[in-house]
Amino acid sequence: MNFLLRHTLSALETVVYGPSYAALNSLIRYPKPLDPEPIWQAITEDFPPIKDWVRLNYPPKFARRFLLAAKMKQDHVLGISAHYDVSNDFYELFLDKKYMFYSCADFATGNETIEEAQIAKANFIVNLIDPKPGEKILELGCGWGPMLQRIYEETQDKKNLFGYTLSKEQVEFNKQRRGFNVEFKNFITCDYPEHHFDKIYSIGAWEHVRHRDLPIVLEKLYRAIKPGGRMVKHFFCPRAETIPVATIVGQIYFPGSFQPAYPTQFSAFEKAGFRVTHQSIHDYRPTLRAWFDNLVANKEKALELVGVKTYNKYITFFPASWRFFKDSESILVRFVLEKPA
Ligand SMILES: C[S@@+](CC[C@H](N)C(=O)[O-])C[C@H]1O[C@@H](n2cnc3c(N)ncnc32)[C@H](O)[C@@H]1O
Repeated sequence: MNFLLRHTLSALETVVYGPSYAALNSLIRYPKPLDPEPIWQAITEDFPPIKDWVRLNYPPKFARRFLLAAKMKQDHVLGISAHYDVSNDFYELFLDKKYMFYSCADFATGNETIEEAQIAKANFIVNLIDPKPGEKILELGCGWGPMLQRIYEETQDKKNLFGYTLSKEQVEFNKQRRGFNVEFKNFITCDYPEHHFDKIYSIGAWEHVRHRDLPIVLEKLYRAIKPGGRMVKHFFCPRAETIPVATIVGQIYFPGSFQPAYPTQFSAFEKAGFRVTHQSIHDYRPTLRAWFDNLVANKEKALELVGVKTYNKYITFFPASWRFFKDSESILVRFVLEKPA
């Protein structure tokens, strides 16, 4: 794309979608690999008050509502495939080596490596799931199977572990590299057998359940879990039912996804019949910085695998997400939801 076209497009996007959306897209379209550290600084630094106000308030609310409604007409399934079916080798360059989690880790002190922090997160969540050999356990949105692996270490029972994903590359990875029962299945639209699973959990995938789907999916999941069983969830969502500008910006990276806010999620869980027995809040930012550093350290290999545009997309994605959590309009939560016996 030539210089004039890039700048014209950027000016149009600024008017329609706001300055953050336009600036990030313009960086992604830059024809050469971005210089990482100045990009991190430019996206994450504190802005002067007026610039910050514009960034957080433009486009205005009514326009955001309209834009988001248009974006929600897109099939989020295509957005998932566009995000994940890039190259498994590419993701291996920046995720932790042991498990390959693509979700927020637990940095208790801030001095841990991403490897240590993902092990800490895996231990935290395995305690919430409390898996036992012989129990049927399903992960919604299982990625490259990191948590299935952690549960398997606990139970040594592969045949009762199941995972769904919308990435064909992840299905192959799980089958060939890990030997897990992973299917290409949409956990939002699929049917589930009744009273079948002891535990169902999701880590970093519930973000794709939209307002209109939330009660329907929860009803199906409630029926799929045996009495006395439980559901564990780890996801981020807006703190309140507004439409932050960040949700428009997020459409660059996950087109067609927009989460109901925390109070809506909580009451939907209770309405479906679950008892909330655990809640905790976690900080995504150190994980995003660790992935960014790993990607930069593997720049040449990354460019070879995915080319300049995708490389630039991730070089902006991590600091933009960091900024998103610093702005504190969204929170990352873990829940345990019990189905009464
Ligand atoms: C951020 S990754 C998290 C993966 C994994 N749970 C982890 O912690 O590394 C999100 C995963 O959710 C899956 N996903 C998103 N929406 C889905 C849907 N509707 N049905 C099935 N899988 C979905 C994606 O394919 C991807 O595997």
